[in-house]
Amino acid sequence: MRIVALLLVLAFACAPSAVAGEARLERMEATPKGWQGPVFAPRLDYPALPGDDAYPWQAISFRREPERYLRALLDYALEGQDRAHWRLAANPVRRWYHVPWLGPGANGREFVHGLTRGRDLAPGELGPGQTACRQTWAIAFYNELGGVILGRIWGRGDRTPDLSALPFAVGTVAVKLVFTEASAADDPRLAGAPEVEANIHVDARPGDSTCAPSVGAGGRASARTPRLLRLLQFDVAVREERASYKTGWVYGSFVYDGRLPGADPWAKLKPVGLMWGNDPQLSDEAAARGAAPKQSIVFEGPFGRGGRMNGIADERSSACSSCHMAAQWPTAAAMTPPAAWPVARCWFRNLDARYTFGFPPGVGRGCSDPAALKKISPLDFSLQLAIALRNWSDETVKDKAVRAPFGTMRRKGDQLFVNGIESVRLKR
Ligand code: HEC
Repeated sequence: MRIVALLLVLAFACAPSAVAGEARLERMEATPKGWQGPVFAPRLDYPALPGDDAYPWQAISFRREPERYLRALLDYALEGQDRAHWRLAANPVRRWYHVPWLGPGANGREFVHGLTRGRDLAPGELGPGQTACRQTWAIAFYNELGGVILGRIWGRGDRTPDLSALPFAVGTVAVKLVFTEASAADDPRLAGAPEVEANIHVDARPGDSTCAPSVGAGGRASARTPRLLRLLQFDVAVREERASYKTGWVYGSFVYDGRLPGADPWAKLKPVGLMWGNDPQLSDEAAARGAAPKQSIVFEGPFGRGGRMNGIADERSSACSSCHMAAQWPTAAAMTPPAAWPVARCWFRNLDARYTFGFPPGVGRGCSDPAALKKISPLDFSLQLAIALRNWSDETVKDKAVRAPFGTMRRKGDQLFVNGIESVRLKR
């Protein structure tokens, strides 16, 4: 009885900070007064342990039957989903979770469907019909295995994140949907694409070669307005036992193609390809001479460097697992490699979750400096986690140093230092 009473007292004593913590995890732009449409709520009720789930792709070889492997993942990602609004909690089949702390910042979550701004599509990237710059906005989520780890990292938002909870378990799946303001007039593939409404940046000069900046004059976030966006790209990332001798992840992507026959738009996602390694040996020069990657299988494009796997909306000088390998805390290196191959090769090593990307070339002893292993924590390829940690730090580290299990954080003006290493802002 006494213990129960004590527990009750403790529960009440803990409750306010836990509630405040949860509100911090969810922080994002306000819903305008009078808004009648849907409003985004992140799913952050992480499970302590995973429930029963089947992972059908594990019975398929991603090398020998890449298309069948990708289809199995797509079916898994789509099953039971609310495909109109992507409310994860409405899925009766399987639980999926969001990463917290993606609301703040000029590119942070918008209030309608929780989309964050991604890389712009420069004129012509979608084809000759696209004459103006087009914004892209995305939403991503993790399956239950991923949710368990996210819960261990963030708790209920009332303590410093615990990065020792990583890596993600084999079977973890992350899914990302990329929507664009482009339409079938820009690219006939977008005809009949699934749509969502999202509060995106207002372009003062629509129709020209630049998109609305996310930060305007005076450093203030640009105005936003609700617009209808169309599905362009559907990404999957899977923690794979069989890829553990390379990076531990398989990345795959689909492009929406409305020219395909049939009435179901979700059957019109065409596989672009997949990759399980960065092909460290494949230099730009070798690729120009006709050498092809061996750790990518590509059906559409290629959209990645040296013919490596990448998405239609992604940075061409990079590749899926190359960019994601830069996920570390602090973010000591940019996500995208420079043009010159001798330095770019740092971004095309095959590292797994035990190793951090490390320093960029030119800092310390570059990307192979072992000092980085002590000062930098790997984020197991999750770039959403890297952005979330930056947003959390921006709100948490003010004028005093903050000590966390992964190191000491300090601020100097707009710069953030972790263990004395500057955390650069990630730019796509
Ligand atoms: C040049 C960098 C870059 C490239 C290339 C890239 N991504 Fe990402 N990706 C990001 C960033 C930044 C985020 C986090 C922000 C967001 O969600 O939009 C992200 C998020 C994701 C997520 C959500 C989970 C996570 O890791 O944060 C998935 C899944 C994903 N990407 C898959 C892919 C796939 C598949 C490819 C290749 C087809 C790809 N990405 C290529 C930068 C990149």
